[in-house]
Amino acid sequence: MEKQLLRFKVNGDEYEVYINPKTLLAEVIRDHLGFTGTKRGCETVSCGACTVNVNGFSVKSCSVLAIQCQDMDVTTVEGLEKNGKLSPIQRAFLDNGSYQCGFCTPGMLMSSTAFLEELKGEVPTEEKIRESIEGNVCRCTGYNSIVRAIDAVAQGKYKEE
Ligand code: FES
Ligand code: FES
Repeated sequence: MEKQLLRFKVNGDEYEVYINPKTLLAEVIRDHLGFTGTKRGCETVSCGACTVNVNGFSVKSCSVLAIQCQDMDVTTVEGLEKNGKLSPIQRAFLDNGSYQCGFCTPGMLMSSTAFLEELKGEVPTEEKIRESIEGNVCRCTGYNSIVRAIDAVAQGKYKEE
């Protein structure tokens, strides 16, 4: 199959990659560009470990073709840190012990980042927070510490540094 040129931004930088049009976004991010923070878990759109943000919306990168992201802006977990400073949700995860093995963590961080941006300052209910991560499976934490971290950021306890 003839390769196609994909031009897009990842974590603020422009990339041009020749890919088979059937290549998944998860594969391009990890294997072509080396952003291995994005995890491949189920690869059947169930676990959320591969979640990245595309134009601000959280997307399971095993569920979209990379070529669909032509001219778009993709953020992976590596892009959350700015100038060596962790983002508010990253710091809240650290402070609240919101991870154990860490495999789900990049996907959780990306889903919660998109959720917090959508809120535009509104403080969500616990139910809404839980709904926001229902596409992300964690086999270790029991979710409560993750919910606490998202709530703390939504309450304004963590600011951009
Ligand atoms: S690897 Fe994409 S949802 Fe599980
Ligand atoms: S911390 Fe292990 S799967 Fe979530």
